[in-house]
Amino acid sequence: MERYEKTFLVLSAAVLVAFLVALAYATIAMHIELPGKAGVIPIKPGQNVAAAVLATAPFNHPGVTKIGPDQYQVAIVAQAWTYYPREIEVPAGARVTFVVTSVDVTHGFEIPGTRVNMMLIPGYISKLSYRFRKPGNYRIICHEYCGILHHTMTAVLRVK
Ligand code: CUA
Repeated sequence: MERYEKTFLVLSAAVLVAFLVALAYATIAMHIELPGKAGVIPIKPGQNVAAAVLATAPFNHPGVTKIGPDQYQVAIVAQAWTYYPREIEVPAGARVTFVVTSVDVTHGFEIPGTRVNMMLIPGYISKLSYRFRKPGNYRIICHEYCGILHHTMTAVLRVK
């Protein structure tokens, strides 16, 4: 009986160590990290979220901005059931920082095949950087149910 106890203790410890190693590998080697809360939209008393978002930079002029050598910021506003802008173009290999928010309900922001995956909460700014090394058309999809046309909520990122 004691022998089995020891075996199970060793096995449970081994599983914990394996999880820690996997976590360390994901964060250090694969650079997988959780998107952080990048900020909040200042909302004046009586103002609705949509008006506040559209009055706040960079969401008053959504789109691509070159912010440094080989670095681009892509500001996007999500609204049921689309993204503004709906088509974005960035050069391959550049560091692209997405700065995204929602004007109405909770939306998602996912680019399948990459680690770009954020939740967009009205009034909050979500931010994440990624380098697209392979040229091509990447689909941006909403992966948080946001109403009857949720499945049509997409945009295109062209990497040239
Ligand atoms: Cu937006 Cu689902």
